[in-house]
Amino acid sequence: MSPTPIRHIPLLAAGAVLATGLLSLPAAWAVDPNRMVDAFEATNGKFEGFRRSGAKGICATGEFVGSAQGRALSAASAFSGNPVPVVVRFSVGGANPNAADNGKGQRNLALQFDLPNGEVWQMGNINAPVFGAATPEQLLGRVESLRPDPATKAADPAKVKAFVDANPEVLMQGRYFASQPVPASYASVNYWGVHGFGFVNDKGQTQYGKWIFEPVGGVQGLSDEEAKARGPQFLFDDLRQRVKAGGVAFNFNLELAQPGDTINKATVPLPEGRQKVNLGVLKITAVSPDATGPCVGVTYNPMILPKGVVPTDDPMLAGRAAPYAVSLGRRLGEGAKQ
Ligand code: HEM
Repeated sequence: MSPTPIRHIPLLAAGAVLATGLLSLPAAWAVDPNRMVDAFEATNGKFEGFRRSGAKGICATGEFVGSAQGRALSAASAFSGNPVPVVVRFSVGGANPNAADNGKGQRNLALQFDLPNGEVWQMGNINAPVFGAATPEQLLGRVESLRPDPATKAADPAKVKAFVDANPEVLMQGRYFASQPVPASYASVNYWGVHGFGFVNDKGQTQYGKWIFEPVGGVQGLSDEEAKARGPQFLFDDLRQRVKAGGVAFNFNLELAQPGDTINKATVPLPEGRQKVNLGVLKITAVSPDATGPCVGVTYNPMILPKGVVPTDDPMLAGRAAPYAVSLGRRLGEGAKQ
């Protein structure tokens, strides 16, 4: 368990450090964020205007109401019990804006809580309890090992194997997806925060934990035949219909870490059976009718936290901040698309 939260270093200050080159980089940014995004583009393809990851997505809006248990754990105004507006984005993993909806793999739930007094809380959650790399360096190595050879247009199997043999945990997320059915809907799958965070209450007490957004209506998967029959484009309309019918909500649940638990690794879930408390309910109230909406210009940066929630020293967590900003800058410059 990591009781020492890292300090949030403003992006501007980091930029200054990078520009002068006189000081060493903070550990989280030991990987140059432009090199990281370049590697994503070279391996996964470059689709102008789109997010370099989670490219196929849709904006929605929602409302979050925090619970008494949430208030007991954290002083964050998100848990006041008053409804909080949320800018939501659902997406399929990967860089391809035409990704198939009926394949196994990553689905994302990204949230921006617009809190009183201009405070903002951003997060990007995925439908797996673990991520595919433990550090930014490992993610970069994995992405670079998968880069297609210009001659064969395929990754070099020897390079892929060598990387995986040396870094076996990069396979855990893919194994989890393979073990699960294709999600029947964006509204019917669990979304994990994957990182640990500390919840700090009014008395200054900190409880560490990992969160999950669990659909109030339950988890629903498709058989292989059903997935084939649904075809590659069904998630947006399915979501619109379900939200119109008023039935899309998620419990924001926190699994409580105990002393000794590993809380600072995105590849290590908390042990089975940890106590789970409900922090409140997120209801999705509207879905964009088209590719526009309030999420287009948002980068869901998990280091943007409210007072009452602190990060752990998971290197992947701080490591997301700068590449997200690079991806945002590139896609805005190209004309941001959904
Ligand atoms: C250093 C590690 C990581 C890098 C370099 C990275 C890179 C990216 C990039 C470039 C984007 C697009 C940002 C934008 O254009 O707004 C993105 C989106 C996303 N990432 Fe990561 N990522 C990392 C780790 C993670 C982890 C650990 C998770 C697990 C929760 C995650 C979940 C997501 C989600 C949910 C989105 C979609 C957000 C949206 O809808 O805008 N990422 N990532």
